[in-house]
Amino acid sequence: MIIIVDFGSQTTHLISRRIKELGAPCKVIVPENIKEINKKETKGIILSGGPASVYAKGAPSIDPEIFSFNIPILGICYGFQLMAKLLGGKVVAGKREYGPAGLKISNFKFQISNGLPKAFVVWMSHGDEIIELPKGFTTIGSTEHFPFAFVNNLKKKIIGVQFHPEVEHTEFGSVVLKNFIEICNIKTAEHLIDTEEIEKNIKKIAGESYVIGAVSGGVDSTVASTLAANAIGKKFIPIYVDNGLMRAGTREHLKEIFDHIGINLRIIDAKKETLIKLKGVTSPEEKRMLIGKSYIRVFEKEMKRLVKQGKNVEYLLQGTIYSDVIESKGTKHAAKIKSHHNVGGLPKNMKLKLLEPLRHLYKDEVRRLGKKLGLPEDFVRKQPFPGPGYAVRIRGEVTAQRLQREKQADAIVLAELEKAGVLQNVFLSFPVMTSAYSTAVKGDGRQFGEVIALRIIESKDIMTTTWARLPYDLLQKISSRIVNEVPGISRVVYDITTKPPATMEWE
Ligand code: XMP
Repeated sequence: MIIIVDFGSQTTHLISRRIKELGAPCKVIVPENIKEINKKETKGIILSGGPASVYAKGAPSIDPEIFSFNIPILGICYGFQLMAKLLGGKVVAGKREYGPAGLKISNFKFQISNGLPKAFVVWMSHGDEIIELPKGFTTIGSTEHFPFAFVNNLKKKIIGVQFHPEVEHTEFGSVVLKNFIEICNIKTAEHLIDTEEIEKNIKKIAGESYVIGAVSGGVDSTVASTLAANAIGKKFIPIYVDNGLMRAGTREHLKEIFDHIGINLRIIDAKKETLIKLKGVTSPEEKRMLIGKSYIRVFEKEMKRLVKQGKNVEYLLQGTIYSDVIESKGTKHAAKIKSHHNVGGLPKNMKLKLLEPLRHLYKDEVRRLGKKLGLPEDFVRKQPFPGPGYAVRIRGEVTAQRLQREKQADAIVLAELEKAGVLQNVFLSFPVMTSAYSTAVKGDGRQFGEVIALRIIESKDIMTTTWARLPYDLLQKISSRIVNEVPGISRVVYDITTKPPATMEWE
């Protein structure tokens, strides 16, 4: 198998997904456990990226002995920089680069560059730079800013890439990884996500317990619910907490979906309490904690009610997926980007145990599962919507008035994208109430109103994102409708930032 050494990258788990998709078995370990690797079974080693700088105090490192194992090694980003430093090269705090860059291949004579074109787009996410390669390395490719973006040591079978071949937006990334698997001489076999296996596992974990399901109206929690319903039938009790922060129509849509699945959905109205709890709260982390906690308290109340009826409830099913986990500091060396309400935003003293069957999957994998499970196509392709809903799309305090404006603007964006026939092509679209104010002249009068930022993006797995290149006329139409129809809005700006560096949501 291939051993992936995790230095805390947001995309280490994504590397393992890609390797498995290409048919090779792999395992992720932390660098501290390198001594435990079995040299006979290990056919290749990948050193992941990570948030640290190789010279930072406490930065994770690795025993340099691995470079004499005579096993092919691929160093990615931080993994490449660490390798360069340990082998005698020079790494400095250099030009930072986050997002797309053009890579030019100058050397085609190595197996690792098989099948690559002369130039293609790769994605970067780093602050340090290698300015001197260790002895024995040859350059394969460079970008405008980085002469050593792709290098190889043929004799030692060590490859280094400054870019991320594992992310969706790096063109030919899977070709680089496939070439590496071939260099490792691994026999590949098809890798499938087995729904029956997941269902069996849910049944095993739940045992005699009833399971409460946290349903949000999105694809993830609905797919998790379908799996749970298949696994334990009527012992699964899905609950939707309507806190008024979700898109219009969610409640009705959910009822339809759960009728389709054939389970009764319990709906709990918490609209008033939620707004009261959010009064005066401006910090995004605090909003997430508050919402995460209030969801759990509602579910615990339900648990008590069911226990009184003689039903033993131990578990809460959530549709958590891997992108939620990793952004909430899901691994030892990872940085915390934000505490997703269903992961880092949960209260410490929870009475319910979590059941998260999709915790290791990505959005596009969950969509495929949903399709396989027979969920309607338009539902499976539905835009994701964050658990804390509009609360994290309104910067600063969430008041009833700002919530109303956000909802109105959101409906306009959705309607116009639909009318233009592009709604199905975008991954996510939403207005952000920015808390920034600007001057407008409306009907010859002055207005000092709030600025709305439009975020309309394309992605598959949530890990990387580009902004949607929509026709100008469509953007104009959306902008005009928002400033004309939504009270108190003075201006609309279009967010043209990729992820990385910007996250999808603003908070
Ligand atoms: P970011 O902004 O982190 O968004 O790039 C990635 C995806 O996660 C959603 N999101 C959340 N989902 N709880 C959730 O269930 C949260 O606290 C949360 N924050 C962001 C976001 O809408 C996008 O789909």
